[in-house]
Amino acid sequence: MGSLDGKAVLVTGAGRGIGREEARLLAAEGAHVVVNDLDTDQAKAVVDEITAAGGTALADGEDVSTWPGAEAAVGRVVAELGRLDVLVNNAGIIRDAMSFSITEEQWDAVVQVHLKGHLAPSHFAGRHWRERSKAGHSHQRGRIVNTVSESGLYGLAGQVNYATAKAGIASMTIVLARELAKYGVTVNAIAPRARTRMTETVLGSLTPEPGAFDEWDPANVAPVVAWLAGDGTDAITGQVLVVFGDKVHLMNGWDRCGRIDNDRRRWTVEDLSGRVDELFGDRPTGLPVTGFGE
Ligand SMILES: NC(=O)c1ccc[n+]([C@@H]2O[C@H](COP(=O)([O-])OP(=O)(O)OC[C@H]3O[C@@H](n4cnc5c(N)ncnc54)[C@H](O)[C@@H]3O)[C@@H](O)[C@H]2O)c1
Repeated sequence: MGSLDGKAVLVTGAGRGIGREEARLLAAEGAHVVVNDLDTDQAKAVVDEITAAGGTALADGEDVSTWPGAEAAVGRVVAELGRLDVLVNNAGIIRDAMSFSITEEQWDAVVQVHLKGHLAPSHFAGRHWRERSKAGHSHQRGRIVNTVSESGLYGLAGQVNYATAKAGIASMTIVLARELAKYGVTVNAIAPRARTRMTETVLGSLTPEPGAFDEWDPANVAPVVAWLAGDGTDAITGQVLVVFGDKVHLMNGWDRCGRIDNDRRRWTVEDLSGRVDELFGDRPTGLPVTGFGE
């Protein structure tokens, strides 16, 4: 018996990298997985791996960053498997550039694949869960697991398109969690770190010592997704978890960390200039500290 026996799952961008490992583990845990990837040959290869290992999967080549593509991908899960239980939004691309060098095309492509590529499948999945709830399936356990990045949480230079889109997905996660709670759906996000095609140019040489734990293996990310997808996480929603190797960090979002009050009078520039120390306390007034490397 697996922890996800019989669940109907859609993983986007699952033809390689982190998504491939997620699809394989979810299937090994008993889920029926639709392996989506624009690269259909890759999606089919993952389906073959899953079937060879005794699992159930089928391939889908829709572009989930378009409304019709997302509708078709979610519709396919429902048509083939009878319903959707788990949506893993994972598909992604990078087109790195500094804000002063970036082209409109680099901006649009990345924002579309990540932001719309997360919202569009979530929109159609949410519609499905709302309809099921109205039809009397009051105990359904819908799950969305989004994929963000520490680049977006900390703001990495050279990735203005990617980081902005990923930060948007972190916000989207909270909105969707609030909107879908009443239909029994939880929505969380992971921020993974792994050696994949996306990161190989930077991390390619990071091969583990023989016999040592390979913290960059993309397969390290999948158990967290399988756990979030399961029945034991009803109470966990609207959260962002950084997942790297054997570490899982719970992230705290935007939060108030300093305050000044002008005693029911509108601020003047002079007032504000004189209260900087009080507002910032011990915190840096310059670039925010990042958690990379921890
Ligand atoms: N690798 C890391 O360290 C890392 C770090 C932070 C976040 N992420 C995120 O994890 C996710 C997976 O990244 P990866 O490293 O496995 O990358 P990858 O390039 O190995 O895999 C991404 C897959 O998504 C597919 N894809 C792209 N656009 C698509 C679309 N519109 N519709 C369907 N499929 C599409 C690609 O064909 C590819 O197979 C991405 O969202 C990425 O931003 C990765």
